[in-house]
Amino acid sequence: MTTTTESSDRFSAVLARLTEKSVTDHYNPYTHFDWPDSLPENAYWMSPSLLSIHGTELENELTESQKMTLSKWESINFYSMNVHGIRELLNEVIDRIHTRGFEETSEFFHHFIGEENEHMWFFAEFCLRYGGKLYSTLRIKGDSENETDLANFLVFSRILIFEELVDHYNMTMAGDKLLHETIREINRVHHRDESRHIAFGRELVSMLYERARPSMTEEQRGEVESYLKDYIAVILNSFCSSVVYRDAGLGDMAGLRTRVLAHPGRKEAVRRAVRKPMGFFVKQGIFSDNAIPGL
Ligand SMILES: [Fe+2]
Ligand SMILES: [Fe+2]
Repeated sequence: MTTTTESSDRFSAVLARLTEKSVTDHYNPYTHFDWPDSLPENAYWMSPSLLSIHGTELENELTESQKMTLSKWESINFYSMNVHGIRELLNEVIDRIHTRGFEETSEFFHHFIGEENEHMWFFAEFCLRYGGKLYSTLRIKGDSENETDLANFLVFSRILIFEELVDHYNMTMAGDKLLHETIREINRVHHRDESRHIAFGRELVSMLYERARPSMTEEQRGEVESYLKDYIAVILNSFCSSVVYRDAGLGDMAGLRTRVLAHPGRKEAVRRAVRKPMGFFVKQGIFSDNAIPGL
């Protein structure tokens, strides 16, 4: 163990504070939300600035009503990504709770697991109630090698990246007066819980990196950087989905996904969405710059 006493004291203090906050902030998700029978179709379900077509000429080509329908299905896609992402992350955390090396974090993990289970429930509830389905968009695959410092570092880096990216969407929608109150509240409540998970994740990732770094060569560090950046690109690209475009009635627009993916306006919008986690990984020295391949 190469972690310094100073950083481990800091970690313990943050952990105690966040664990206590999980207890005081706890709410009952099963009674908290008001679920109307249906949500208005002639309204935005996701902030226009978060749509995959934002920043492209398709914003002008599509009618207001087409964009509203697209926002409905892209929001169902976003919550579906959360459901699948959470299941995969829970598997990783459950695999580590009360095992060697995670003695101190296990108490917090109990809250994390409980909260993520509840998030998975309300996101799935939204999709099934208002979209009649879940999209099967994102699968986050873990590494086969386990129990090494590097594997732990990669797993919790992916969890952090995923949570920070989702948080950008949550914060935008929570503050968007254009959206229905049920939509805003789901995003607001999730943001509140995630701010603790993100604060914890940043501390844990820094500590795990400090442990893993000394035994890594510069070449391995480069591999870690490109692995995590590829992961970011995969999540960002899954916001543009041909299945979603078809559900939104845009199926006959040939090459729509390719057009959106290649557009410089979209690239600019998604770079904004990952600005915070990129800044963190660069500041920690995990990334050498904030470039993402293809973006
Ligand atoms: Fe969550
Ligand atoms: Fe979380």
